[in-house]
Amino acid sequence: MLLQIPNVLNDEEILRAKKLIAEAQWVDGKVTAGTQAAVVKNNQQLSEQAPQMQALRKLVLQALNRNALFFTAALPLKILPPFFNRYSGEANYYGYHVDNAMRMMPDGSGYVRADVSATLFLTDPEDYEGGELMIEDTFGRQSVKLKAGSIVVYPSSSVHEVTPVRKGARVACFMFIQSMVRDAEKRRLLYDMDMSLMQLRHTVGETEAVVHLTGVYHNLLRRWAE
Ligand code: NI
Repeated sequence: MLLQIPNVLNDEEILRAKKLIAEAQWVDGKVTAGTQAAVVKNNQQLSEQAPQMQALRKLVLQALNRNALFFTAALPLKILPPFFNRYSGEANYYGYHVDNAMRMMPDGSGYVRADVSATLFLTDPEDYEGGELMIEDTFGRQSVKLKAGSIVVYPSSSVHEVTPVRKGARVACFMFIQSMVRDAEKRRLLYDMDMSLMQLRHTVGETEAVVHLTGVYHNLLRRWAE
């Protein structure tokens, strides 16, 4: 499932993130890529040592925490601290690759299994040319380029790329999530059920059947959650 969630960051947060990023130091993006991905990765990333990193990560994680749609789509168990990247000038693309299944926490405290990948756009589409995120999966090939502050959530198992940025600079935040529900199909069923329940609650209210169905949702989640 590929899901776009608009306005994860509000305008004030976008400005604050941009200000912090403008002060930070960029390094070669290969530092976090696996062996295959490193061959095709040509972008820049905020240094793990950047003093702005902590504030940036907090800003993004707080915004995700209050987003109900993100929660129901990803069912996050663990989130690898977000990274920030930039595509511009000579360092302007990330060719076809798959994300590594297991990612080490930056502090070395253990691994996070990447079930769900997410890209939070920090530059508006009109401010750069190219730089589409192309995602290939059972849903076919999709091109994603969102407004600043919006996020796309997609299975980490998909093959994807970022096409060359031909003009301007594309800054984004990306992250890997270990889901409580490992299986993407099960996650999808839960997501569909939860969205339908929300709609039912809105149209018919908390009827007895709606309460029972809500129970079924939670019982399925209980069965499937790790
Ligand atoms: Ni990737």
